[in-house]
Amino acid sequence: MTTPIPAEADWDRAPGLLEGAMDLELTAQDCDLRYWLQAVPQGTLRGRPDGHHPDLKVGPHMLRGPFYDAITQEYAFRALAEEKATRVLSFLVANAPDIPSMEFYATQLIDECRHSMVFRNHLVSLGVPAERLAEAVEEFASPYRETVIDPLEQRCLEVMRDERDFIGGVVMMTIILEGALAPAAELSERKWRPLDPAAAEIDKGAGIDEIRHLTVGAAIARQHLLDHPEDRPRVVEMIREGMRMWEELPTHQMVLDREVRFQEGLALHADIVGDYEIWPGRRLVDTTPEERQDTADAWSDEMKAKRLKYMGLEEALR
Ligand SMILES: [Fe+2]
Ligand SMILES: [Fe+2]
Repeated sequence: MTTPIPAEADWDRAPGLLEGAMDLELTAQDCDLRYWLQAVPQGTLRGRPDGHHPDLKVGPHMLRGPFYDAITQEYAFRALAEEKATRVLSFLVANAPDIPSMEFYATQLIDECRHSMVFRNHLVSLGVPAERLAEAVEEFASPYRETVIDPLEQRCLEVMRDERDFIGGVVMMTIILEGALAPAAELSERKWRPLDPAAAEIDKGAGIDEIRHLTVGAAIARQHLLDHPEDRPRVVEMIREGMRMWEELPTHQMVLDREVRFQEGLALHADIVGDYEIWPGRRLVDTTPEERQDTADAWSDEMKAKRLKYMGLEEALR
């Protein structure tokens, strides 16, 4: 007898990341270790150990030039960010107050570790020699390592490792880090779809996991605040501080740099993209770097507002 795969983790039936993260409600009790074993290794990942269907190969237009520059920078940055996330999540596992949240964060830790692996290994498919992959990741990610990754990692370590603040760490992950990065990931899946279908599948699979991370993180924070209303002012202040920090980091410039390179690629390879629509009614070839970035920013704002409201934390936006 086979166990049915839950729709939200099924490759063909899962909602998109934005819809799923805004409309679904999942708790740590729903998404325990047993759920994960059936839904993820035997569900989402079945037949895709590298994050994409094994038959998908990278085309020659991706192997040099502006698309190569854009995707190697993006994927190296994300490989490094996912690696850092994996390491800091170990502190949420260590400090989880009960078994469901401990099991859930253990599964999220493996999810992020796997994301790091598939982003990193895609660089090999793009022609980076496997034996110098680690150095290549550092090189491609270097423009924004010190200015974006290091300060975020430092803040996570203070909250999760030094202060052993479980709920602070949950809020940090779900609102500040993943909440802010998820829309960029959605944009990535949509724009690479016609150009590098393997990359789009990697993004899609990571997005399916992300729905679970965002919704369960929000449910844990929501329940904590219902049980401990006295903690609300502290959590609100943390979110505000996290959002201020995010504003000060050069993430806008980082995404724009990549979109500008991507645009140069579009000009060279418009024939491959054809009439593909990045969102309904809008052909990818007609979009600009600013338009794509503004759209992802608008998704991010909408998602943040909706999820803060669900947690009863909308005052953090004021
Ligand atoms: Fe991830
Ligand atoms: Fe995640």
